Amino acid sequence: MKILVVGSGGREHAIIRALLRSSLATELLCAPGNPGIAADAECLPIGAEAIDQIVALASERELDLVVVGPEAPLVGGLVDALSAAGIAVFGPVAAAARLEGSKAYAKEVMEAAGVPTGGWNTVENVEDGLAAVRGYPTVIKFDGLAAGKGVVIAADEAAARAALEEFLVERRFGEGQVVVEEFLEGEELSLLALCDGERAVPMAPAQDYKRIFDGDLGPNTGGMGSYCPVPGIDAARVAELSALVHQPIVDYFAAAGTPFHGVLYAGLMMTADGPKVLEYNTRFGDPETQAVLPRLRSDLADLLLAASKHGGLAGRELQWDPRWAVTVVIASAGYPDSPRVGDAISGLEKITDPLELTCAGVAGDDGNLVTAGGRVVNITALGETPAAARAAAYAGVESVDFKGKQTRTDIALRAEEAN
Ligand code: AMP
Ligand code: GLY
Repeated sequence: MKILVVGSGGREHAIIRALLRSSLATELLCAPGNPGIAADAECLPIGAEAIDQIVALASERELDLVVVGPEAPLVGGLVDALSAAGIAVFGPVAAAARLEGSKAYAKEVMEAAGVPTGGWNTVENVEDGLAAVRGYPTVIKFDGLAAGKGVVIAADEAAARAALEEFLVERRFGEGQVVVEEFLEGEELSLLALCDGERAVPMAPAQDYKRIFDGDLGPNTGGMGSYCPVPGIDAARVAELSALVHQPIVDYFAAAGTPFHGVLYAGLMMTADGPKVLEYNTRFGDPETQAVLPRLRSDLADLLLAASKHGGLAGRELQWDPRWAVTVVIASAGYPDSPRVGDAISGLEKITDPLELTCAGVAGDDGNLVTAGGRVVNITALGETPAAARAAAYAGVESVDFKGKQTRTDIALRAEEAN
């Protein structure tokens, strides 16, 4: 199979690394990829949102499958365009990707599908926003795509007002409404499922770390690390959760005439009142994918192609490596507010099998990479215990250096302590 992966981050590199382990994938391309991904796939200078160019490439190169990594091209209709051209594609059509593209729409779908979630109101101005608050802390969410930066937990009225003004007056992310949501407490869980338009097949559970500093302090980021699986969430619990939060959504979009193909990612809060959905993403999580896919023993190319076909996952069961996986993100100085770029990266050659290096914000050429974004590289290790996987991942992190590198030191510590 000739497969194109669309995107340029650590998630896309992890997908490519998993496809390298597939016996079906014979040729791997990435658009646009990055100089680190170029070691594993042919990278083409085509942006992830250049829909016409991607469709043309898929026809010219006679691709067997296109896998879409990031949300923006999904919301922008890349899957619709590829499908119209008769090209097999893994990802939802724009109408279904709206589940991630609009938080207000996601709430409406959850209500219609009977999925448990926190109480909310959609508002268009600051005063209505403040009037919708039922108590502090409260959660203020920009309605559109904001690269993980459109959510504010407001401790008091002043903070809520500041967030509402940032989103609705200063328009930090452009035009859009705001969802004011009930604050939920508990452990977070990322539960991803492969969907074929009819059914959701859950993947192994993961947790990610969204805040920049140890102890979940500081601002939200795209994600500073992850691990898989999660203590206490066994296969039976995964099946139960998936029936609660994935299948009703797949059924909803099937009934709406826009069947959901691709990854449905439920971000859950395990509250004292039971699991509640914080958000849906309509793609693989980053950095969850970097920890989940190294444990997958089933053939990823086979699964993604099957999911692109209506009902194609029938009879497929996912097989998992019993070991634990831990992914640590190495981020640039200044991330997340103003990531510094252009710092030379050393020591990447020391990250070799069994460690997995996945590259995100890097530029330059192989052997001479420099930082080029917020999250620079990810290091994933497998271990018989969470402690062993953590120790191996952090030993890898020690080998890599650049000016001002930032990492959390507590990734998967809760798994180690629970085990
Ligand atoms: P979201 O992009 O909606 O997942 O929000 C990003 C992060 O903000 C989540 O992973 C949570 O850590 C936090 N968050 C979002 N919604 C809530 C909520 N209702 N209560 C508490 N924390 C939340
Ligand atoms: N790890 C969170 C996300 O992919 O949105």
